[in-house]
Amino acid sequence: MTDPHSFSTPESRVKHLKWSAKVDFESRVIRAEATWELKGDHGDTIRFDTKDLVISEITLDGGKPVKWSFGRNDSILGLELIIPLEKSTKEVRITYQTSPDAEALQWLSPQQTADKNLPFLFTQSQAILARSWVPCQDTPGVRFTYVANVTVPPDLLALMSASNPSSKDPSGSYRFEMRQPIPSYLLALAVGDLTFHPISERTGVYAESSVIEKATWEFADLEKMVAAAEELYGPYQWDRYDVLVLPPSFPFGGMENPRLTFATPTILAGDRSLTSLIAHELAHSWSGNLVTNATWNDFWLNEGFTVYFETRIMEKLYGTDYAEMLASLNLQDLHDEIRSLREKGLSHDTRLQLDLSGRNPDEGVTSIAYNKGYFFLRSIEERYGRDKFDLFLRDYFTDNAFGSMTTESFRNYITTYYNSKFGIQLDAKHFDQWILTEGLPEEVASPQADRFRKVDTVLAAWRSKVSINRSEVRGWSTHEWVHFLRNLPEQLSSEEMDQLDQLGNFTDSHNAEIIAVWGVIAIRNNYTRMLPQVEDFLVNTGRRKFLVPLYTELAKTSEGMRHAQTIYKKARPNYHFVATNTFDRLLRADPE
Ligand code: BES
Ligand code: ZN
Repeated sequence: MTDPHSFSTPESRVKHLKWSAKVDFESRVIRAEATWELKGDHGDTIRFDTKDLVISEITLDGGKPVKWSFGRNDSILGLELIIPLEKSTKEVRITYQTSPDAEALQWLSPQQTADKNLPFLFTQSQAILARSWVPCQDTPGVRFTYVANVTVPPDLLALMSASNPSSKDPSGSYRFEMRQPIPSYLLALAVGDLTFHPISERTGVYAESSVIEKATWEFADLEKMVAAAEELYGPYQWDRYDVLVLPPSFPFGGMENPRLTFATPTILAGDRSLTSLIAHELAHSWSGNLVTNATWNDFWLNEGFTVYFETRIMEKLYGTDYAEMLASLNLQDLHDEIRSLREKGLSHDTRLQLDLSGRNPDEGVTSIAYNKGYFFLRSIEERYGRDKFDLFLRDYFTDNAFGSMTTESFRNYITTYYNSKFGIQLDAKHFDQWILTEGLPEEVASPQADRFRKVDTVLAAWRSKVSINRSEVRGWSTHEWVHFLRNLPEQLSSEEMDQLDQLGNFTDSHNAEIIAVWGVIAIRNNYTRMLPQVEDFLVNTGRRKFLVPLYTELAKTSEGMRHAQTIYKKARPNYHFVATNTFDRLLRADPE
């Protein structure tokens, strides 16, 4: 299996990393030594991925000099590092430092944190950014264990995707250990003025002081989620499960770094309504972290399985109707994504199995992997029964634990499983249709949530100009409001916008999901009261999923595009590379 997004080859593979590093906030670099232990059966060369690293020395087995060189250079993949090996070589040590623009790293000034007191650093390695802070075989098909010694300024706490401290050490030095083998995209580090609050024996929250209480309250069900997940698909394999709440510039909702999910503060809605995101990242502890997509072309194996698992956790905890609300929103996202990919001439990206060679794997991060993946798995569940599918999933995670999976090997596994276990011959056409065909098969499920039926009644009344009593919307969660807002007519008069705002108080909302949807409606209908809120949100939040629709809506008119560019100029220093890489492109076009 070769990975189009890594220069490394199966000829020689790593198995363990000893990383020692010093984090320098002044110059915004990490100075480090990566000592890689090799698998015994290696060839006479080893190849690593690097990006913007400054390498000062490479030696073999505790000090032997070696004639290393750089190979291919690619704007997406970075720079290939080639190191000749001797037959007896056990270890390769690379001394290097990162660049201040390292793509995985975001260095925040105190002003960009919640407490506004001390600086912050976090990494985001998925998909192929680990190579910008550790020279590595940066492919999800290669796993290794690691230990790390990290020194940071003494007033900050360091955390990794590994065993973690629960409080600061006055020496500023921390030791980490990850005993379970992980792929490079799950390497993670965060350094900041952080405190810890336990939730149960094996779960807890890390956050800045001003956020910790709110976060602890919001994630009160963390232990219940882990227990539900274990009941569904087998024991949690990573010992502890903690969540780190990052400053608002974190480009994603969540990132499933093993033992320590990284999360955006935008899920702290104050009513626990957005915690399915935590269920999602937790589910990755099985789907993704235990059984991993072999390449980014198989990304749906990570995300589709995780959305399915997440939805099952939420169903177990909060009931079918709740889970169906999530599924219903996901189906709408999926329809929108298919439409938008078609419009961009990217219909081929509506297949589950992707071909991303020569492209940035980030282009595969669409609702297809997540939600078409989810609805495909749901269709297998519905065709052959939930009991069978649950047995299958449990064994799938156990039999393939700490391994990687291609779309093909998944097909083989499930086909053999259903055949030998249940005497069922799976329908190959059904699989082809979902995996290889563009768009969405007709058989796609239509989720039914009673809570949304009630919203639909209110929507119908609103459309027929019947005035709506506030009591009819009392107790609506984020999901109901999002469903409501998404299903309003495209064009709204300013009286209608005022009426709606009175009904839901959207402009004054602090809920990021609401601000994002209402913001788009406000831009489209030139509802000026909301526009300062939109600007404020764009400047202060780095979560790409919310920024994309807002900037896209702004960019639809030439005046809006100019406005977007002005805002972006102000906001850009607050964004992670993952976000600037998207918006540099999106907002580049000439406003005329
Ligand atoms: N692993 C992803 C985030 C990711 C994907 C980062 C690809 C880089 C490349 C994470 O598990 C995720 O899916 N996050 C979602 C939340 C989820 C509830 C859909 C997000 O960030 O919005
Ligand atoms: Zn995910």
